[in-house]
Amino acid sequence: MADITLRPMTAGDADRVLAIYQAGLDGGDASFETVAPTWTAFDAGRLAAHRLVAVDDDGSVLGWIAVSPTSSRAVYAGVVEHSVYVDPAAHGRGVARLLLDALITSTEAAGIWTIQSGVFPENAASLALHRRAGFRVVGTRERVGRHHGRWRDVVLLERRSPVVA
Ligand SMILES: CC(C)(COP(=O)(O)OP(=O)(O)OC[C@H]1O[C@@H](n2cnc3c(N)ncnc32)[C@H](O)[C@@H]1OP(=O)(O)O)[C@@H](O)C(=O)NCCC(=O)NCCS
Repeated sequence: MADITLRPMTAGDADRVLAIYQAGLDGGDASFETVAPTWTAFDAGRLAAHRLVAVDDDGSVLGWIAVSPTSSRAVYAGVVEHSVYVDPAAHGRGVARLLLDALITSTEAAGIWTIQSGVFPENAASLALHRRAGFRVVGTRERVGRHHGRWRDVVLLERRSPVVA
């Protein structure tokens, strides 16, 4: 992993970020979404302070992570939902784990106390990644939405920071 580094995501990464997003959606187990958003919509929906990309030694973007607020209510100001997507050609190299660990560090430093994510039960890689990073399973939401015409369950995961008090 010495060849993989992390840096903040910039607008110059838009094409690669959205292409990796679309590749994940095309895999069929990442999200209810089927089409990646425009950069404008992506940018508007995610907190600027907690967006990272992982880059290879040649500078190419291998994956990204970002968070969105979960609520406009003050009580939930420290609760965010994240997405992590890695280029299929780079799976299994520890890219997502690097990104997730860095996101935990950056959100905790900003006083964010809970990161949550909804994961399809079929997404074994994502479930393993999150469990290893200290997320717990809150529960499974049954047939909560339709994806390509099929009702699907979603496992709700969360990590409550032990350091943000
Ligand atoms: C889920 C995803 C982000 C994982 O990315 P990755 O870079 O391949 O994951 P990593 O190599 O960092 O692996 C993280 C951990 O998960 C485990 N893991 C990875 N793929 C796995 C699989 N298919 N089955 C079981 N465990 C797996 C690894 O062993 C590793 O555990 P370790 O730290 O104990 O070694 C990637 O598969 C992806 O982009 N999928 C499409 C988008 C998606 O589903 N995003 C998540 C939406 S909730």
